[in-house]
Amino acid sequence: MKVTVVGAGAVGASCAEYIAIKNFASEVVLVDIKEGYAEGKAMDLMQTASLNGFDTKITGSTSDYSKTANSDIAVITSGIPRKPGMTREELIGINAGIVKSVSASLIEHSPNVILIVVSNPMDTMTYLVHKTTDLPKNKIIGMGGALDSARFKYRLAEAMEAPISDIDGMVIGGHSDKGMVPLTSHATRNSIRVSEFLSSDRLEQVAADTKVGGATLTGLLGTSAWYAPGAAVSALVQAIACDQKKMFPCSTFLEGEYGLNDICIGVPVILGKNGIEKIVDVPLSEAEKTKMQESAEGVTKTNGLLEL
Ligand code: LAC
Repeated sequence: MKVTVVGAGAVGASCAEYIAIKNFASEVVLVDIKEGYAEGKAMDLMQTASLNGFDTKITGSTSDYSKTANSDIAVITSGIPRKPGMTREELIGINAGIVKSVSASLIEHSPNVILIVVSNPMDTMTYLVHKTTDLPKNKIIGMGGALDSARFKYRLAEAMEAPISDIDGMVIGGHSDKGMVPLTSHATRNSIRVSEFLSSDRLEQVAADTKVGGATLTGLLGTSAWYAPGAAVSALVQAIACDQKKMFPCSTFLEGEYGLNDICIGVPVILGKNGIEKIVDVPLSEAEKTKMQESAEGVTKTNGLLEL
């Protein structure tokens, strides 16, 4: 199993590190445009192998995509991250050009690759890959919901003073401060609805804190977060590499599901060796349906900024 991670910045390097630590991939190739940077990160990570007990071989390359040839899975993290006060949507101008050329180079050397898009605005970048490449839709996956759901579980656990392993919950919709739809009515602690433990006001606060999860960290760190994004990507990569058939909310191209068409947006999917193996239609409440519709309108508006 060969995995390429494009972008050796904080998210890409964390992603490579988590993939290696989980020890399921034979090879991870890190690619970056900055001379020597990916090679350096790869070497530093390889020097953790004997300490952290993994056998994954990590190599780096400065923009030489021939090194990525025959990758099974590739992750695109390249582009600029947001600065405090910026929305993900404001990154579109620079990131669209980068994502378009990176996806073309990856597919040229790995025609059967499964692509995971992380660069922001993520749903629109996933749509861009869908529109500008010949990859089938099951092989184009946007990473947002897995991260937003992890942040939702963190906030729920915090509010309930519970361990996170007791909590289950999902966030669907667009990966944006306004567009996320935390499925609060479906969230549980050990199969008991969270509304049994928390007031509706507290649950609304949890949902609001979840939606600005990335922005809160950008304010604290001065750039966007990397540990949870890296861990979320590595979970998707593992689900595909190990054919786990696990369910995650991911951005995928919809053709009528959830009443939506011609859009990539976060919905629950089953991930296995073929990438997205199934889109799961979860029954939504009327309020959730309205929020999903509004979220889709936001993503469609951002898609309109693409020069396709
Ligand atoms: C975040 C970025 C990865 O939410 O979108 O932290």
